[in-house]
Amino acid sequence: MELKELKIGNLTAAIPIIQGGMGIGVSLSGLAAAVANEGGIGTISGVQIGFREPDFAVNPVEANLRAIGKEIKKAREKTKGILAINIMAAISNYELYVKKAVEEKIDLIVSGAGLPLSLPKLVEGTSTKIAPIVSSAKAAGIIIRSYLKNKRLPDAVIVEGPLAGGHLGFKMNEILEEKCASLKEIVKEVKELITGIEKEHGVTIPVIAAGGIRTKEDIMGLQEAGADGFQIASLFVSTIECDAHENFKLAYVNAEKSDEMIIKSPVGMPARAIRNKFITDSVENGCVVSKCYKCMPNCNPATIPYCISSGLIDAVEGRGGLIFSGANLEVINKITTVKEVISRLIG
Ligand SMILES: Cc1cc2nc3c(=O)[nH]c(=O)nc-3n(C[C@H](O)[C@H](O)[C@H](O)COP(=O)(O)O)c2cc1C
Repeated sequence: MELKELKIGNLTAAIPIIQGGMGIGVSLSGLAAAVANEGGIGTISGVQIGFREPDFAVNPVEANLRAIGKEIKKAREKTKGILAINIMAAISNYELYVKKAVEEKIDLIVSGAGLPLSLPKLVEGTSTKIAPIVSSAKAAGIIIRSYLKNKRLPDAVIVEGPLAGGHLGFKMNEILEEKCASLKEIVKEVKELITGIEKEHGVTIPVIAAGGIRTKEDIMGLQEAGADGFQIASLFVSTIECDAHENFKLAYVNAEKSDEMIIKSPVGMPARAIRNKFITDSVENGCVVSKCYKCMPNCNPATIPYCISSGLIDAVEGRGGLIFSGANLEVINKITTVKEVISRLIG
């Protein structure tokens, strides 16, 4: 089976690879532009993107809005390719951030961690495309029915399976007991649903598989199951172009299978991360949260075991922290380049 280009509305990526958004700060303009330059779709992570702005501690919303503009501009200077931004539906001020990215003429908004039901109205009248992330055909159905009320459909649907990095759309016990459906199974179900919608409405909606894709064989297997595109994140961390500190990249290179673990995130979802001192000290034993960035509407600093923003910022700046990752990191054993990762994947 041949790999085809990936069409999302009028956007055509020469290779069907989307680099998954990685927050906080792991995928910014550097990585996103490098992937876009190779013919894939590069994704800037929009979550707490203003963490390097001087006023972030006192005015995180302003800092984030400014940084969304800056990172999109920086990426545009480096590439003429397709750029997406990932903004998690669960974060505070979600709509403000999406609107800002749309104003900056981002090509595609990718949103998961919750149901991104307001996306159609946020992009109305613009050329920005929308791609919700789902972990089941049921969630895809709910989103599609809601979008249709706005006379709109998603431009693509990203299906994230249980081996993905960061927050996971499955129940904690299902992941720990390995009872989740596989990515292939979920892709098949979502593809069936989407094929029906495509026929009914005379449109094309690519289904993009994500989570644990490590080899060309993984890609071919998912293509057989119905995937039109492949969202990949972890493999791009250990590249020169990745925007994270070298210590973050080396944590991937040095991780062993036994270091991969599932934690309960203050977001209220399970998440996959690499076991380190932060996890044993803070996640397992709890710590006092002294600074709150108000990044999530329902987070209470008095009751959470650790602050997710501080943990992720420490990680991306190389101070240990909370290092999110996908499963099966054993294939990552050196710092490489985006070009090499992609050429290994598509052969
Ligand atoms: C370090 C890291 C951070 C991530 N952050 C986000 C995020 O902020 N929002 C999101 O929707 N997905 C996030 N993800 C998920 C990825 O975008 C992607 O869908 C998933 O990790 C793909 O699986 P893979 O890493 O096994 O390739 C993150 C993944 C990693 C590894």
